[in-house]
Amino acid sequence: MSIPDHLSQALAEEVAKFSQSQLQKAYAELTDLYRTNRKQINNSLNSAEKRIAYIAARMPATYGAISRVLEEIHEDLQDRVTSMLDVGAGPGTATWAVAEHFPKVSQFTLIERESEMLSLGKRMAYNNPRFKSAHWISESVEVALKTPDKYDLVIASYSFNEFPKSSKLKILQSLWEKTNHSLVLIDPGSKEAFSSLHEARSWLIEQKAHIVAPCTHQKECPAVTQQDWCHFSERIQRSTLHRFLKEGERGYEDEKFSYLIVSKEKNLVSSARIVRNPEIKSGHLKLHLCNENGFEQKIYSKKDGNLYKKAKKSAWGDPWEPTP
Ligand SMILES: C[S@@+](CC[C@H](N)C(=O)[O-])C[C@H]1O[C@@H](n2cnc3c(N)ncnc32)[C@H](O)[C@@H]1O
Repeated sequence: MSIPDHLSQALAEEVAKFSQSQLQKAYAELTDLYRTNRKQINNSLNSAEKRIAYIAARMPATYGAISRVLEEIHEDLQDRVTSMLDVGAGPGTATWAVAEHFPKVSQFTLIERESEMLSLGKRMAYNNPRFKSAHWISESVEVALKTPDKYDLVIASYSFNEFPKSSKLKILQSLWEKTNHSLVLIDPGSKEAFSSLHEARSWLIEQKAHIVAPCTHQKECPAVTQQDWCHFSERIQRSTLHRFLKEGERGYEDEKFSYLIVSKEKNLVSSARIVRNPEIKSGHLKLHLCNENGFEQKIYSKKDGNLYKKAKKSAWGDPWEPTP
């Protein structure tokens, strides 16, 4: 997965405003801070070069995770969605991903409390005709969600886990009220983020929401009953700048994320999801599945014919149907 060319170009124009050494210094300072206190990262984006260094390093990864998640939304809905709300939008990463996956969306609204970050997003979106009438709201979610407007798709990417614990449920309630079709929550692949998404899942099920993904059922989450947790991974291609900032040799990185998609409408779900990397051995493989019976491991071997071939092509995070 890599960001689309027009986003890459918009990012490159912002990056070109600084020297590589300025960006590398800014990124090193952010990395130090991140090691000590992850949640303080937004407060420390207090200079233009830190903001650019941060988004140059993070936007490809969050864009990749968001795109992977959006693929779980059924194609027929992708064609019906015309409006979206991006909450805790940062530079508008989710907005770019939605524009790419949902061709009919013409009304984009972004809420972001950090005005400098929102302005940066606005500049990057300036040359994209899809965003000509986008509505950029520089305000905290708690205040901005007080309007009566509703949106077909509401997305909080890498922001839900940042909302204060004390107001998270209230924010979730507002997000659900504002949703016409689908609500998407994406957060880092950490135990803490998973736990917060699990609480959201329980509350949304009580509100009669229909889970679209990753769960293939509305029953008790087996990860929680087994004191485990669930997350996914997307491989991101690193650009030259990306590698330079991260002082990394590898041409890729694996972005770990947790997510939840719920819908107001009942939808078709597969019978299971692959929740770990398949274990491939010679002549057979093991799939780790989550379904309505809990966690299950299934072994497929050559004698399973097409089912084995299908399992070999499957990956962590994919839905699984045990039919050839
Ligand atoms: C980690 S960034 C994610 C940005 C973007 N959504 C993405 O996926 O790349 C989280 C963003 O949420 C914003 N945020 C956190 N709490 C907020 C709140 N209460 N109201 C508005 N924005 C908030 C932060 O300022 C930050 O820009």
